[in-house]
Amino acid sequence: MDMSRRWRIERSRDHYHKMAKSSGFRSRAAFKLIEIIKRFGVIKEGQVVLDIGAYPGGWLQVASRVTGPKGLVIGVDIRPIKELGKPNVKTIVGDVCDEDLHEELAEMLPGKVDVILSDASPKLTGVWTTDMARHEHIVRCVIKLANKLLRRGGVAVIKAFQGSELDDILPILRQQFEVVRLFKPKASRQRSREIYLICMGFRGYWQGESEYKLGDAK
Ligand SMILES: C[S@@+](CC[C@H](N)C(=O)[O-])C[C@H]1O[C@@H](n2cnc3c(N)ncnc32)[C@H](O)[C@@H]1O
Repeated sequence: MDMSRRWRIERSRDHYHKMAKSSGFRSRAAFKLIEIIKRFGVIKEGQVVLDIGAYPGGWLQVASRVTGPKGLVIGVDIRPIKELGKPNVKTIVGDVCDEDLHEELAEMLPGKVDVILSDASPKLTGVWTTDMARHEHIVRCVIKLANKLLRRGGVAVIKAFQGSELDDILPILRQQFEVVRLFKPKASRQRSREIYLICMGFRGYWQGESEYKLGDAK
């Protein structure tokens, strides 16, 4: 990569990093969710939102503001999330691939959730195939969780990586949701292959694998 391009990328990274600091957001990632909400209106006032891979809490801050005092936002991460001091936010330490966590979430929720967010990423090793395989595994766990907890008509916003992961995941999501859009926020580093899958209109069942069928999904 030539130096001027690298410089432009670094500058833009600093721009969002500085903006996050000056606006009190815990991560520059907060701006990605803001863009997604502005473009697709995926979170609304009063809704129940589950945020997977929520540490350090930038998306939680954004979702908390949008859902407001009548809403509820639950953040899950393998790392403990420092208290946000927002009455409509709860956090829980756990691995999205742990089925016990799924049960725990089902118990603490008032019912099915309106929105599932996942910005989860494993710690990167730098070995592309390993990192991709680990990320795809996490995304599959998020989809499994969505099949248990997302309400019919609900929304999921899932980070994916372009390449074989996207090729594997997209057909599954297209079966489960009425509309799936791909979106690269400006706040996402241009050199990164990350992309967000904006999945709207959850059908409440997975046609491909009967174990995920949810006859009782509301
Ligand atoms: C890019 S960060 C999320 C940033 C967050 N959206 C924000 O705005 O602050 C990705 C997070 O995914 C979490 N993560 C990775 N694997 C996970 C798993 N199996 N279950 C839950 N969280 C996981 C990591 O610990 C990390 O904190």
